[in-house]
Amino acid sequence: TPLALLIIIAAYLLGSISSAVLICRLYGLPDPRDSGSGNPGATNVLRLGGRGAAAMVLVCDILKGMLPVWLSYWIGINPFLLGIIGIAACLGHIYPIFFHFRGGKGVATALGALAPIGWDLSGMLIGTWLLTVLISGYSSLGSLITALAAPMLTWLVKPEYTMPVSMLSCLIVLRHHDNVRRLLEGKEGKIWNKFSRNS
Ligand code: G3P
Repeated sequence: TPLALLIIIAAYLLGSISSAVLICRLYGLPDPRDSGSGNPGATNVLRLGGRGAAAMVLVCDILKGMLPVWLSYWIGINPFLLGIIGIAACLGHIYPIFFHFRGGKGVATALGALAPIGWDLSGMLIGTWLLTVLISGYSSLGSLITALAAPMLTWLVKPEYTMPVSMLSCLIVLRHHDNVRRLLEGKEGKIWNKFSRNS
């Protein structure tokens, strides 16, 4: 429907607003694209020394996924299109039209996009991420393991969303290729080590 198409475009455009870049500017922190891991996301903003800024980035990036999907859910858009809308939001975050297509890794935005599926799924995903990060200290490992577990967990809770969630997982895992290399080489920075510089 034309309305769904409009929401898909709006979700992409909203996703394209790089909250990490804007919030770092607001807080006088270095550009997250040029410092730390070079990733405009909450983890890297935390690494650059802004706990409050990182929390704000996390919330904004989650909302970029959550708002368009929830709105579409309320107005009765079907599950297939809901999946496309969630993916559009994440594609905006990863390939932002307003920031030279240099975006983040889509973890927070995907989590937001999945929230409307249900708190049981969101809770399990957040739990998986937190557990992995608490045990290992690596934010990226948390994201990777959560992305790999997400399709199976979705299949258990709401099987009709398994396909779009699998696509999001693929996108997120591929986006972490530098992190995978650093993890294998033992060069990944731990989340609580704000002075870690990995490139
Ligand atoms: O959500 C991104 C996280 O998984 C990794 O971020 O900055 O360590 O590459 P970063």
